[in-house]
Amino acid sequence: MKTTFGPQKLMFPCPTGLVVTGTMEKANIVTIAWISLLTSSPPTIGISLGTKGFSGSEIKKNGEFTVNIASVDIMVEADFCGITSGRDTDKFARTGLTKMKSKIVKSPIIKECPLNLECVLFKSGMFGSTNHFAGKIVETHIDTDKLADSSDYTTFDIAAINPLIYIGGAREYRKIGEKVGDAYTIGKKLFKKH
Ligand SMILES: Cc1cc2nc3c(=O)[nH]c(=O)nc-3n(C[C@H](O)[C@H](O)[C@H](O)COP(=O)(O)O)c2cc1C
Repeated sequence: MKTTFGPQKLMFPCPTGLVVTGTMEKANIVTIAWISLLTSSPPTIGISLGTKGFSGSEIKKNGEFTVNIASVDIMVEADFCGITSGRDTDKFARTGLTKMKSKIVKSPIIKECPLNLECVLFKSGMFGSTNHFAGKIVETHIDTDKLADSSDYTTFDIAAINPLIYIGGAREYRKIGEKVGDAYTIGKKLFKKH
């Protein structure tokens, strides 16, 4: 049996992304769970940002931002950035998170986050009361100690990255579980059945 609830904003799991806007001198961090890759060529990422916060206008003003994936190690800091505003809080100072210079964009990346994407605003638009920003990913940083082969980004160790997972609806954080199969492969088990 199933039951229905009409239209709800329910989705899980979500990554816990920390979006940094501004510059090395004056940067802000906003916690974002509504985040998704949009296109593969060029690699583009989409984020949904409510209009009440400070960060949307910063992205519009600067045309650049970084997306930093939080690990479980910085759960408290990540949550803090989602319950305070850059309008009246210096979130880097309050959390102790470390700004690192990006290679291409002016907005810094966060050292403590294992994955960092430098983004240039590609398109933006309003869906209802939410700003949607599509950012072209112009650089990707990964901690080398989380890679088996430092010349191949796909060799990351997801257990070492230990991403902080957000469960919408329940409003809780979780960590990743164990591997259960190989994607694009395990489904081939059914190939012969038809
Ligand atoms: C786990 C978590 C996920 C969140 N996801 C989003 C999101 O996807 N979009 C959004 O607009 N706000 C989201 N928020 C709320 C913003 O982070 C919050 O409004 C923040 O205070 C805005 O900061 P700013 O004013 O510095 O931009 C989230 C908060 C938390 C704690």
